[in-house]
Amino acid sequence: MKKETIAIIGAGNMGVSLLQGLLADGTPPQQIWLADPDARRLTQLEQQFHVHVTDNNEVAIKSASVVILAVKPQIIANVAQQLSASIQLHRPLVLSVAAGVREDNLKQWLGEGVAIVRCMPNTPALIRCGAAALHANQSVSPKQRDLAETILRAVGIVVWLADENQMDAVTALSGSGPAYFFLLLEILQQVGEKLGLSADTAKLLSLQTALGAAKMALETSDSVGALRHKVTSPGGTTEAAIRVLEDGNIRELFTSALQAATKRSTELSQS
Ligand SMILES: NC(=O)c1ccc[n+]([C@@H]2O[C@H](COP(=O)([O-])OP(=O)(O)OC[C@H]3O[C@@H](n4cnc5c(N)ncnc54)[C@H](OP(=O)(O)O)[C@@H]3O)[C@@H](O)[C@H]2O)c1
Repeated sequence: MKKETIAIIGAGNMGVSLLQGLLADGTPPQQIWLADPDARRLTQLEQQFHVHVTDNNEVAIKSASVVILAVKPQIIANVAQQLSASIQLHRPLVLSVAAGVREDNLKQWLGEGVAIVRCMPNTPALIRCGAAALHANQSVSPKQRDLAETILRAVGIVVWLADENQMDAVTALSGSGPAYFFLLLEILQQVGEKLGLSADTAKLLSLQTALGAAKMALETSDSVGALRHKVTSPGGTTEAAIRVLEDGNIRELFTSALQAATKRSTELSQS
């Protein structure tokens, strides 16, 4: 990454998270351009990170080998069309993080033959703990694939998808996923309080338990099913709780929830 010039279009939550990840990963600030319409935000980011800033997207991408589109999906068509002539001329890798925006649409706006990587990151990327899925179109070279992966790795883990259609399942699983865990934590905290714990204690215990469970699952070769069995002694407290959850059809409930999210993601990307 030390030699690549990277332009980030859109200095919002995701754009700035990627910027911070790149800098923390050792990309020199003078090789990063940040473009956004908000001059005050740009001045502040320039002072904080010492990167190049501009309110002109074309200026930002002029010498870029990677252009990251980090604007809202509603305006990406406009932004891409405005940049298409320059992108056709310089042929950078275009990395889009816009949720629900298909490669076919990007190709239509940017023109034929452009190397496009579509990415579905999730909100924990904001604290460099994200989970992102990537898909590359046929114009992406192996070197550009590595580049895209390195950029997203700076803010979390990365998986590649063989089929772009899998993005809808990714959106349902890891894209919307943080909200499922937040809901569960909300419930655990409320119930902990009902059972007599203070709000602070219930919060701390539930958050650390979630973190510990995820860390354990990541750090062992055991499946999550095996881990669950290990902490579920016959006739014990965990078994009593799990039985209630299974009797309440928690599996069917989550299946329906993720199916609904997948369906909605497909609808949104086709609208
Ligand atoms: N945030 C997440 O956790 C997350 C997760 C997955 C995917 N994404 C994707 O990431 C993209 C950005 O989301 P976000 O949450 O970072 O949104 P955001 O905070 O609103 O950032 C978008 C930025 O783009 C700027 N902008 C508007 N028009 C522009 C233009 N013509 N040229 C350049 N910049 C322009 C906006 O400025 P103004 O505010 O002044 O309009 C804003 O600073 C979206 O496509 C979203 O689907 C985000």
